[in-house]
Amino acid sequence: MSGHTEILSLRSVGHSFGGFSVLKNVNFSVPHGSIVGLIGPNGSGKTTLFNVISGYIRHQHGLVAYDGHNMQAESIQARSSAGLVRTFQTPKVFEQMTVLENIMAGACKLTRSGVIEDIFSLPRSRADMRRIFELAEEACLKFGMEKLRHDLALRLPAGQRRVLEIARAVIGRPRLLMLDEPSSGLNTNEIASLRRWIEQLRAEGIAILLVSHDMELMTVADCVHVLYFGEIIASGGMDEIQKNTQVREVYLGA
Ligand SMILES: Nc1ncnc2c1ncn2[C@@H]1O[C@H](COP(=O)(O)OP(=O)(O)O)[C@@H](O)[C@H]1O
Ligand SMILES: [Mg+2]
Repeated sequence: MSGHTEILSLRSVGHSFGGFSVLKNVNFSVPHGSIVGLIGPNGSGKTTLFNVISGYIRHQHGLVAYDGHNMQAESIQARSSAGLVRTFQTPKVFEQMTVLENIMAGACKLTRSGVIEDIFSLPRSRADMRRIFELAEEACLKFGMEKLRHDLALRLPAGQRRVLEIARAVIGRPRLLMLDEPSSGLNTNEIASLRRWIEQLRAEGIAILLVSHDMELMTVADCVHVLYFGEIIASGGMDEIQKNTQVREVYLGA
């Protein structure tokens, strides 16, 4: 355990695409073991910020510190090995692999291109593979996918693909789990399960950075930041945010 109170710290983070400034002076932190929310209208820069933090984009300004270390020079794989794990707004599942195999892939390192290497072609000991298999079986149970575990991922409906992606992320033992719109495409019951899992993961000591348009789900967060055209315009508990006049005007449409 490090001496830092924050697992993630963003200081004056800025990024432009072709001269168009998408992130401007973004400052916030994720304390160890906390749930931090990020909301904002479409196009406000939430996914770009996830790409910056996880290393898919080299940002131009400011500091991204993970567990007290400047991440600027670190690759996607190095960040993921250090426990900085994210999911994607559009779930990335391996359609021709089973649910169980998809989850097992989460225990293996990502390649530079972001494509996971064929887990069965890697030289691993039988004991390693057995352990990964057991962890994947556990994850299937934990996320309610035990009946689907031998089905090909291509058969899964949208909601289950999201759950599969989260299960795969969690098997990689994250210390900071970043979820990009995990509730989109989920029905009310599935969102209720998602909320329970998020709370359970936090209880296990995993810090979570959550992006969602579901305001009810966002009440799970200890603190929520509102991103608007690349700038944080408000921060606080969801009840505070919902009362904020500027936020109501620009985002909640009230
Ligand atoms: N790779 C890219 N190249 C150019 N513009 C991009 C790229 N990725 C995102 N953008 C632009 O950045 C802005 C923020 O997008 P995004 O981060 O996806 O927002 P959000 O996730 O909040 O909906 C949008 O205007 C989008 O068109
Ligand atoms: Mg997005």
